[in-house]
Amino acid sequence: MSDYEQFETIAIRIQSPRSENREHSVPIYLTSSFVFENAEQARALFNDEITGNIYSRFSNPNNDEFVQKICAMEKAEDGIATASGMSAVFTSMAALLKSGDHILVSRSVFGSTHQILTMLFPKWNIDFTYVDINQPEKWEKAIKKNTKMIFVETPSNPALDIIDLEWLGKLAEKYNLLLNVDNCFCTPYLQTPMQYGADLVIHSATKYIDGQGRVIGGVIVGRKDLMKDIRFFARHTGPALSPFNGWILSKSLETLSIRMERHCENAYKLASFLENHPEIEKVKYPFLPSHPQYEIAKKQMKLGGGILTFIVKGGYERGKNFLNHLEMFSHSANLGDTRTIATHPSSTTHSKLSEAEKQAVGIEPGMIRISVGLEHIEDIIKEIETALNKSASLV
Ligand SMILES: Cc1ncc(COP(=O)(O)O)c(C=O)c1O
Repeated sequence: MSDYEQFETIAIRIQSPRSENREHSVPIYLTSSFVFENAEQARALFNDEITGNIYSRFSNPNNDEFVQKICAMEKAEDGIATASGMSAVFTSMAALLKSGDHILVSRSVFGSTHQILTMLFPKWNIDFTYVDINQPEKWEKAIKKNTKMIFVETPSNPALDIIDLEWLGKLAEKYNLLLNVDNCFCTPYLQTPMQYGADLVIHSATKYIDGQGRVIGGVIVGRKDLMKDIRFFARHTGPALSPFNGWILSKSLETLSIRMERHCENAYKLASFLENHPEIEKVKYPFLPSHPQYEIAKKQMKLGGGILTFIVKGGYERGKNFLNHLEMFSHSANLGDTRTIATHPSSTTHSKLSEAEKQAVGIEPGMIRISVGLEHIEDIIKEIETALNKSASLV
């Protein structure tokens, strides 16, 4: 654990020990293995009698620096870096669940998490139940004798529904269940689930943690005893993060607080603008009082985040046409980038869902998701206004 308390200082001042070259900024340790000083040191390292680097699938100074920062930010005891957000999701579940176990999951999790639960875990006899984030009264009833873990994303993607982490932490404690939270949308700058009793927190570092659309990466942090099993699983199955990506992600954390402040400021301004726009049916943003879980968002999130959704009048076709009239925004499947990204979930990321399934996860035909970037807010608003005007003639 670091001695630093303040987020900004943790982000900048946790650093791998300086080498004999006295570098100011940490170098990239692009090495697959590390040399032993002597046979006794090698023996002790392999027998866990001392800690140190052996092989970059197990540990590496760049990845360790990245993980130490995330642990300090999330107030977690221990952690590992992973090659992607999905390897963080999978490893955090597969390392701790066994055949016959059941997992309770918030409906509308990220698509690949859904595929793990529905297509892969059945092969190993691991069962799951989806529960609606906005119907907390159903959660307790859904717990079974063999339930071992609760897994949630809050806010959810793309519906931006929010679950009360304090309430969920108490529920998990009452039934002695592991609480595993995908904190990708918030980052530890906005929300720290461990403070409410989460046992594990995972991230797709590909999103805001990198924040500049460059690398894929992930991280799992949490209770030391759980991390022991997770580390063992990862060491022998190999979802290791590249040290180059670990270096990028650790550097990115240095500016995370500033970037998140501006993402949230821009998103709030855009959400407020859209709420009064005649071509918009509905806007959803956690820090707008019109959000159904506004009070919970205010309680557990420092700011409202960088993502908002809105429903454009004219349904599915208007949604698609609106996207075709965007010039500056990126039409891409990512989020959490300096560049504003617009997506139409109904015709792209969630197009394979039936209408009933789309309804269940809060995806309406004309819904547009905006990952609000760091361009000037006036340009962001102008871009949306122009596309709304141009697509209006097609309704
Ligand atoms: C909430 C959430 N979790 C996990 C992931 C998977 O992350 P990655 O693409 O880094 O594997 C994503 C990716 O979009 C995500 O949005």
